[in-house]
Amino acid sequence: MQEVFVEGGLIRKLWTIEAHAYRDHLLRLDPDSRRSRFGGAVSDEMIRVYTATLKSTDTVIHGFFVDGVMRGAADLRLLSPDEAEAAFSVEKAWQSHGVGSALLERCLLAARNRGVTRLHVCCLSENHRMQQLARKFAAELSFDFGTVIGKVENARPTPLSLMQEIVTDGHSFAAACIDYQSRLMKPPGSGTTTLSTLPPAPPAGTASPTAD
Ligand SMILES: CC(C)(COP(=O)(O)OP(=O)(O)OC[C@H]1O[C@@H](n2cnc3c(N)ncnc32)[C@H](O)[C@@H]1OP(=O)(O)O)[C@@H](O)C(=O)NCCC(=O)NCCS
Repeated sequence: MQEVFVEGGLIRKLWTIEAHAYRDHLLRLDPDSRRSRFGGAVSDEMIRVYTATLKSTDTVIHGFFVDGVMRGAADLRLLSPDEAEAAFSVEKAWQSHGVGSALLERCLLAARNRGVTRLHVCCLSENHRMQQLARKFAAELSFDFGTVIGKVENARPTPLSLMQEIVTDGHSFAAACIDYQSRLMKPPGSGTTTLSTLPPAPPAGTASPTAD
């Protein structure tokens, strides 16, 4: 079973209507993490443009949420029927606590269930943490100038892997609802719950989860 709760936060898929949460998370990354995430210096404006390209048809974002605020992300972009690119980000205070590993695990399952057999993870050659993380999942790494391209060979989807994703999404959604309600019940001043932290509603009308 995939982990739903990690380090006091919960992992769930992001919905397209929550692109602002992803944008704000990326904008909060400290300079080193931002450089590592994008493989170089990027401006706030570039991050705004990048997150505006979030489309439900070819993107699956998993978010790590603490008190309704997105603190980590796994960004899976489908490139062709069997290839995808993934990128990961965890805010400094939550790094080295297993969040990246849990996000990668969820991302791999989503990739597998969409027929992705080759997953590219690009990172700077000095980014040992990301390389270590990819190696944990048996990545094959090949070096290319200043960047490392990690290729993860993914297994084919099975009825069990599909069921795993459905069940985990259900658990995540239920956990997000309980988390939202418990934050609502906190005394005023002890939390930061606002309407924008409301967990996403199930698929209906225009709202849709990323690439489901
Ligand atoms: C890379 C990143 C996503 C990893 O997330 P994380 O939550 O820190 O990762 P984890 O805690 O799951 O650790 C993964 C592995 O990295 C290694 N690691 C953890 N902390 C480390 C540290 N301080 N130094 C070196 N390696 C470290 C460990 O091998 C660890 O596995 P283990 O705990 O089983 O031994 C995160 O550090 C991050 O956002 N970095 C900035 C952005 C970035 O580099 N993105 C990758 C490019 S796409």
